[in-house]
Amino acid sequence: MSLLQDLSWRYATKKMNGEKVAQEKVDYILEAVRLAPTSSGLQPFKVIQITDEELKAKIQPIAYGQSQIVDASHLLVFAAYDEYTKERIDAPFAQQEVERGLPKGYADDYKNQLWTSFTQRTREQHFEHAARQAYIGFGVAIAAAAEQRIDATPMEGFVNAQLDELLGLDKLGLKSVTILALGYRDQENDWLANLKKVRFNTEDFIINRN
Ligand SMILES: Cc1cc2nc3c(=O)[nH]c(=O)nc-3n(C[C@H](O)[C@H](O)[C@H](O)COP(=O)(O)O)c2cc1C
Repeated sequence: MSLLQDLSWRYATKKMNGEKVAQEKVDYILEAVRLAPTSSGLQPFKVIQITDEELKAKIQPIAYGQSQIVDASHLLVFAAYDEYTKERIDAPFAQQEVERGLPKGYADDYKNQLWTSFTQRTREQHFEHAARQAYIGFGVAIAAAAEQRIDATPMEGFVNAQLDELLGLDKLGLKSVTILALGYRDQENDWLANLKKVRFNTEDFIINRN
């Protein structure tokens, strides 16, 4: 199977059948997200994994009643840093020093430049930067799920502030960005399941400047 076949197979599942996904398959998807690249390697987001039925039921109204929230096996909430701090910027470099056996402070100049650039941005801009990194992981998760033949619905249709409050994300210095609902399609009752995938033509989509 090729990545293009995987991406052609997947679609944003509207109706799931409630079947559980094996944890090892979800772990594979989560590992793909962990390995995704981020700007300066800051990894400024976390993934909250939810399987608890009561919690899913509480999330459903926050997500405008979308059925995938409760019919999915797992919900992955992608949540980004609400702001960068010196500690949050230091952490990945300190880990690199240890795990790569690099001299202490090897990246101090770069780190200081990064920190200076963030001090010139608003808290909202910090979050927007971190959220962009979360979207990279989100895209990788969508592809990894397709490779595993796990159906997935990428979701932005929810009230972020309400989800943050329900999950206590502010205490963790995080704000929700997206949800990925994982499960199996209800082939017979999902109106989208058999429809053609529609995308702009390559000629319209790719702009060549040779
Ligand atoms: C960031 C993002 C947010 C989305 N939010 C929702 C959502 O809340 N509910 C939903 O049913 N689909 C949602 N979708 C699915 C898109 O509508 C869908 O991916 C798009 O129409 C392309 O169709 P396909 O994924 O089936 O190929 C979202 C997709 C993305 C990438």
